[in-house]
Amino acid sequence: MTRKLFVGGNFKMNGDLESLTKLVQQFNEADVDVESAEVVIAPPALYILPLKEHARAGIQVAAQNAHQLPAGAYTGEISLQQLKDIGLKWVILGHSERRTIFHESDELIAEKTAAALKAGIQVIFCIGETLEEREGDKTEEVVTRQTEALAKVISEDDWKHIVVAYEPVWAIGTGKVATPEVAQDTHKMIRSFLAKRISQKVADETRIIYGGSVAGKNAKELCNQPDIDGALVGGASLKPEFVDIIRAAE
Ligand code: G3H
Repeated sequence: MTRKLFVGGNFKMNGDLESLTKLVQQFNEADVDVESAEVVIAPPALYILPLKEHARAGIQVAAQNAHQLPAGAYTGEISLQQLKDIGLKWVILGHSERRTIFHESDELIAEKTAAALKAGIQVIFCIGETLEEREGDKTEEVVTRQTEALAKVISEDDWKHIVVAYEPVWAIGTGKVATPEVAQDTHKMIRSFLAKRISQKVADETRIIYGGSVAGKNAKELCNQPDIDGALVGGASLKPEFVDIIRAAE
């Protein structure tokens, strides 16, 4: 079965209206085949609407987070229903920065993900181990625990609306990219977990993308691995280099 490649650009809390509009203009003008790779950018919440208007067809827009409840007295939060209301189709959930800095638990992220699917929003579901966990040989335990929390609250059919982003925390923003072999091994392990825990169909069809210091120079080798279906890019998505990463995935 062929899985369509997926390239996400997570702008995090970077940029302003002028710089991000220029950046998206560069993506708009680039000669990339958005038919062969699904391209989704995630700007800060404030810029979602203007950039969604500005991005050309084929460049989709995601939110970087959302609240699990539909409405209410939650100052500073945005609901999934509100994302749906403005026509968004994607949200990133469980990013390691949400897990560590904002103390989001496996259960909360699973709850948010189930709520997103219920609201009709697809999810880039992030998992990954810290350096200490990798060095302590706990990578499998951590990523399966994070994935199991989700498996408990969604149905087999729901998995077609999930892209799993494996992002080793030690590789995020550090320039220390996982080698293609290390990344492939972990992706293969995640896929085997999906096969055992959910079904072979879900394992075969779910896209598992890699994140952590992906750049123009390493994207192709990573995306060529059999179980790596694209990339979630942070720093390099704020540069024209993002186009090279999309091309590498095509
Ligand atoms: O969401 C993206 C990841 O955190 C990767 O960030 O490419 O800057 O390492 P990075």
